[in-house]
Amino acid sequence: MGDNPQSGQRKKLFIKTYGCQMNVYDSARMADVLAPLGYTAAETPDGADMVILNTCHIREKAAEKVFSDLGRLRVLKTEKVAGGSDMLIAVAGCVAQAEGAQIMARAPFVDIVLGPQTYHRLPEMVAKVARGAHGRGVLDTEFPLEPKFDHLPAPKADGPTAFVSIQEGCDKFCTFCVVPYTRGAEYSRPPSDLLREARTLVEGGASEITLLGQNVNAYHGEADGKTWTLARLVRALAEIDGLKRIRYTTSHPRDMDDDLIKAHGDVPQLMPFLHLPVQSGSDKILAAMNRGHTRDDYRRIIEKLRTVRGDLALSSDFITGYPGETDADFDDTLELVQEIGFAQSFSFKYSPRPGTPAANLKTQVPEDVKTERLHVLQQVLDAQLRQFNAACIGKTFDVLMTNPGRNPGQIVGRSPYLQAVHVTADPKHIGSIVPLKIVSLEAYSLGAVWADESERAVSA
Ligand code: SAH
Ligand code: SF4
Ligand code: F3S
Repeated sequence: MGDNPQSGQRKKLFIKTYGCQMNVYDSARMADVLAPLGYTAAETPDGADMVILNTCHIREKAAEKVFSDLGRLRVLKTEKVAGGSDMLIAVAGCVAQAEGAQIMARAPFVDIVLGPQTYHRLPEMVAKVARGAHGRGVLDTEFPLEPKFDHLPAPKADGPTAFVSIQEGCDKFCTFCVVPYTRGAEYSRPPSDLLREARTLVEGGASEITLLGQNVNAYHGEADGKTWTLARLVRALAEIDGLKRIRYTTSHPRDMDDDLIKAHGDVPQLMPFLHLPVQSGSDKILAAMNRGHTRDDYRRIIEKLRTVRGDLALSSDFITGYPGETDADFDDTLELVQEIGFAQSFSFKYSPRPGTPAANLKTQVPEDVKTERLHVLQQVLDAQLRQFNAACIGKTFDVLMTNPGRNPGQIVGRSPYLQAVHVTADPKHIGSIVPLKIVSLEAYSLGAVWADESERAVSA
């Protein structure tokens, strides 16, 4: 039997992705790596020859979901085996990295457990299972010295928007967070590789690229003995013909340097929307979290950004009920939110994670208090989101059309501020950036009509 026993046959691969955009990117790359073995994407796990759960360990709920999903997959696998074939089950991602051995013990029908840094080796793992290591399962959660990026095939464009992973891992060790343990130390890919990858994507039809990293603005790529910052990379990307829009996520306030702020003012391709998580508005809590910035630092950054780019829309993550958070600390968060004004946001109850320093603190906040604070915070944030969207009515935006809409005859796209915008239009416009006038607010998107050129000239 050769190393790729399945090559040549068509096999169905179903990948379920939990967690962040980094995981979405990784799932696409896992599919790329398995394609030469004959695996093609399936919409459901039913009848699939291989199922990968690409997991997230960030909060307890996310991690526990994996085990309930595995329970359902076990039934599907049993049915397939009874029918004379098999279903390979792989658990990838951050839960796999953190709890690989426990997964093998709790769910012995899992064939492969692999971490976020080893998925370029998936074909070898599949071959090992086929060779008969099956039953014991294959576990590979190493942090290899050589980065996986050196072994991955070049990604292909799949529509007008694309992701490029430029940085991975985290050295910041916020006291609540598992990412430094599940993703490992910070690593930045060389600028030459990234520019090549971006050019290929643009040639393939992508006009918007989102640069990804757990700490994307900590980017420090090496080129000819020199270190490139994110600002430098963004400026170089902006030179690529046909690359109309650049975004990056997720950034950390500590790495928001003046050159990057300046780029928001002078690189027109850099979209006026920034996800910059603050977590809390209380200096005491920010210090306890080991965030390395104060609320005033955050304010100053926002002020500078708004000076160079007046229409910049902001987004943030928040945690309520971090150990030791008092009502006064929480009020500081509410106050900061009111002062800054966010166009979008993600907020969570603090979830103690095994192995992180904050999980062992004696000052845990009761569950009902965390819930109540989350509720109060979300009401304020939801109102800000609605207000931001409502203020868009009557304005004309350049919208990058990306997909067919939910209703027949409609297509949807993205505004510069990352809002979903739908319009009745011919699908031939998918892939183009078109001027649309916002006319209505719906639950998850903005409704628009075609703006004519004269209107466009006078609007924001
Ligand atoms: N690198 C990014 C965040 C990655 S995790 C940053 O530094 O901002 C995404 C978000 O999950 C975090 O911003 C935080 O708000 C939330 N989060 C992380 N750990 C958490 C925990 N233990 N409980 C609740 N929320 C958490
Ligand atoms: Fe987690 Fe903090 Fe690193 Fe973000 S910066 S990934 S919150 S440790
Ligand atoms: Fe989750 Fe890992 Fe991303 S823990 S948020 S999938 S880095």
